[in-house]
Amino acid sequence: MKKVGIVGCGLMGSGIAQMSALNGYATTVVEVNDEILKKGMASIETFLEKGKARGKVTDEQIAAVKKNLSTSTQMSALKDCDIVVEAVTENTELKKKVFKQLSDIVRDDTILATNTSSISVTELATVVKNPERMVGMHFFNPVPIMKLVEIIRGLATTDAVVAASREYALSLGKEPITCPDTPAFVVNKLLIPYLLDAVRMVQDGIATPEDVDKAMVHGCGYPMGPITLLDYVGLDTTCHAADVMYEEFREPKYAAPVLLRRMVQAGRWGRKTGRGFYSYDKK
Ligand code: 3HC
Repeated sequence: MKKVGIVGCGLMGSGIAQMSALNGYATTVVEVNDEILKKGMASIETFLEKGKARGKVTDEQIAAVKKNLSTSTQMSALKDCDIVVEAVTENTELKKKVFKQLSDIVRDDTILATNTSSISVTELATVVKNPERMVGMHFFNPVPIMKLVEIIRGLATTDAVVAASREYALSLGKEPITCPDTPAFVVNKLLIPYLLDAVRMVQDGIATPEDVDKAMVHGCGYPMGPITLLDYVGLDTTCHAADVMYEEFREPKYAAPVLLRRMVQAGRWGRKTGRGFYSYDKK
């Protein structure tokens, strides 16, 4: 693999692009407009500069990212890629639209990977030519720091495609695990009920958001409390993952609490919208 394409330059897409470029892949990121691309590139730059200040990132690495990374608003810019990783919003119809378009543009043997956290890889594969080259590659936020990648095998995915995706993840310095195509895979199957329980505690007045966070940070040594983590990954993403899991399993532990749904409806999605359980308004 030499050329990597990324569709989506948000929280996850920009992180995957950064790691690909840093590790020597000619990487092209596609977004719907220049404004989002600019924002994604700025967040990569900030991360690298902060990393340099901490002595974790070298000037050579910053130069490699600049050299290897390009952006475009045209999907056709991905036509020569060996692998394309899709990292658009968690919405089945949107993802299907992206893959249908990609399938008409890239080579028949280009690996198509989705960074979905809960949507079925098998379902997304139904819209592409050669569904055996479709795979899930679920990265974790913040992508440059979190080591895990879940490699999800759809019903049609071949061993060769799983192996190549693992190799790609390893080459980015990640620790891949392979999972079957079941809703939420491994991490979110454990993490989502935990986050939903944290919201239920706040909703039912058992503890404040601050105290729920304090409890898990100081009581269990977690790097972030669940409410801070919710704001970090996005209330919208969490609510969507919960809905997919509830739809599939019909178990109460996966049912999104009313407070979470209301906050999503109000646009309080966390850091990405400037407000979630906490406020991130710089003013
Ligand atoms: N460049 C390079 N390295 C950096 C860096 C930068 N800009 N910023 C931090 N680092 C390195 C640090 O040097 C440190 O490395 P070390 O352990 O080798 O010394 C490591 O990253 C951690 O740094 P800190 O301890 O200083 O932590 P921060 O406070 O900066 O970062 C955090 C916090 C890493 C995000 C930590 O709070 C954390 O792990 N939070 C939990 C995140 C999590 O759970 N993510 C998964 C979410 S679920 C998901 O994404 C799936 C989705 O589908 C829902």
